[in-house]
Amino acid sequence: MAKQYFLGIDTSTTSSKALLIDQEGKVVAVASSPHTLQTPKPLWSEQDPREWWEAVSASIQQVLTESGVGPERVAAVGLTGQMHGLVLLDEAGQVLRPAILWNDQRTQAECDEIHARIGKERFIQITGNVALTGFTAPKILWVQNNEPQVYAKGRHVLLPKDYIRLKLTGEYAMDKADGAGTVLFDLKSRNWSVEVLEKLGIDRSWMPPTFEGPEFTGGVTPEAAAATGLKEGTPVAAGGGDQAAGAVGVGAVEPGIVGLTVGTSGVVFATTPSALIEPEGRLHAFCHAVPGMWHFMGVMLSAAGSLQWYRDTLAPTMSFDDLLKEAESVPAGSEGLQFLPYLSGERTPHPDPLARGAFVGLTIRHGRGHMTRAVLEGVSFGLKDSFTLIQNAGLGTITQVRGSGGGTKGALWRQILASVLDAELVTVNTTEGGAYGAALLAGVGAGAWSDVPSACKAAIKITGSTTPDPAQVEAYRKSYPLYRELYPALKSSFDKMR
Ligand code: XUL
Repeated sequence: MAKQYFLGIDTSTTSSKALLIDQEGKVVAVASSPHTLQTPKPLWSEQDPREWWEAVSASIQQVLTESGVGPERVAAVGLTGQMHGLVLLDEAGQVLRPAILWNDQRTQAECDEIHARIGKERFIQITGNVALTGFTAPKILWVQNNEPQVYAKGRHVLLPKDYIRLKLTGEYAMDKADGAGTVLFDLKSRNWSVEVLEKLGIDRSWMPPTFEGPEFTGGVTPEAAAATGLKEGTPVAAGGGDQAAGAVGVGAVEPGIVGLTVGTSGVVFATTPSALIEPEGRLHAFCHAVPGMWHFMGVMLSAAGSLQWYRDTLAPTMSFDDLLKEAESVPAGSEGLQFLPYLSGERTPHPDPLARGAFVGLTIRHGRGHMTRAVLEGVSFGLKDSFTLIQNAGLGTITQVRGSGGGTKGALWRQILASVLDAELVTVNTTEGGAYGAALLAGVGAGAWSDVPSACKAAIKITGSTTPDPAQVEAYRKSYPLYRELYPALKSSFDKMR
């Protein structure tokens, strides 16, 4: 039989990527096209969904041309993308307003309104989460409250990758992982919560049917075939939001294996075998892209983004390598210097858009190496906050942490992370994140692998391991509690700084 290929498509905030893998999971070609981002008002973050579709079409065409793989050999497509973004469509599926994205912060009043209408505890019980400005439900309410003429024309709610699905297949559908990220989901039953929808005045018929990650949701239409170069009828799998698909892409698909992403933002991701929730909603609890599984997630908004800001602002002429070299000779704990990484506000464990970054404890003894190391340590401590919440949320033993993202590329930061978390940190051979996970989900849907864990076992290999350094573990055991004291101590000052 001719070799089969699977295509993963990732519509992220910055670009749309198309990635082709073969039936052994080997990456054959990758292409991406950029998106623009609009911030028409403070706190707003929007994109035009039609731009995503142009970028996706161009990337698919490029990947097919560059790989030389004929469209008839692409057995299935899997979708992923930025989570939580509201795409509001009219009866005919036309875009009614720009999409309101995951990093848009305009909806605090609507979050409060959701808690008031449903009761915060009840809302956490049903959806597994508190209402946060990033999530979709408050964005729908914002349009209801602020753009009633637009809302009146609304008939369909989709998420970014599901708009791509609509363009590819003509079908309104969504995967369960991203569905849960709207916080309109009943987490346990893995479907829309009629109670939440009713109390928020959102018409049930606006919400599409939802599917498990590898399930097929339709086939490529003739129009989409013409736009992308794919074969008409090519099946499109449900896929998953970028975090769930990214977890599939590194093999964080069973309880005990935790995914740690240190990109611009930082994510600690743990698979759960049932719909566990953190009683105060401090962790996100969503459905996984693995059928019948759920996950916890802690999200830090400025992880490697903190280091990027620090370099760009304070040492713009230095390479990251040189900067990190200076930090290597500074002892663990940075001789009492602490860094708070809340440069863009924070989500976990302090859901606070007004939280701010800080260096605390500076003395004339401290040099640039100390400041660099303090940034690495502060971000690692922030990730430990999520890690600890996950450890305490009834998950059982964490056997392995799988690192990915730019922040885990350097040995120094890997060592600090392993020692701060006091856990072995491994790296894997796959580096394409969500797009790779989406391609694996498509492969499972097409029957190349029997299930998602089998696909991950076949395709993903451990490439390196960093174990905690006992002396550093001891040093961080002393400095982490100090870090923990700083946010509560500074919170009222942060509030006044708005
Ligand atoms: C997850 C989240 C981000 C976006 C960015 O909750 O908001 O990962 O999906 O792509």
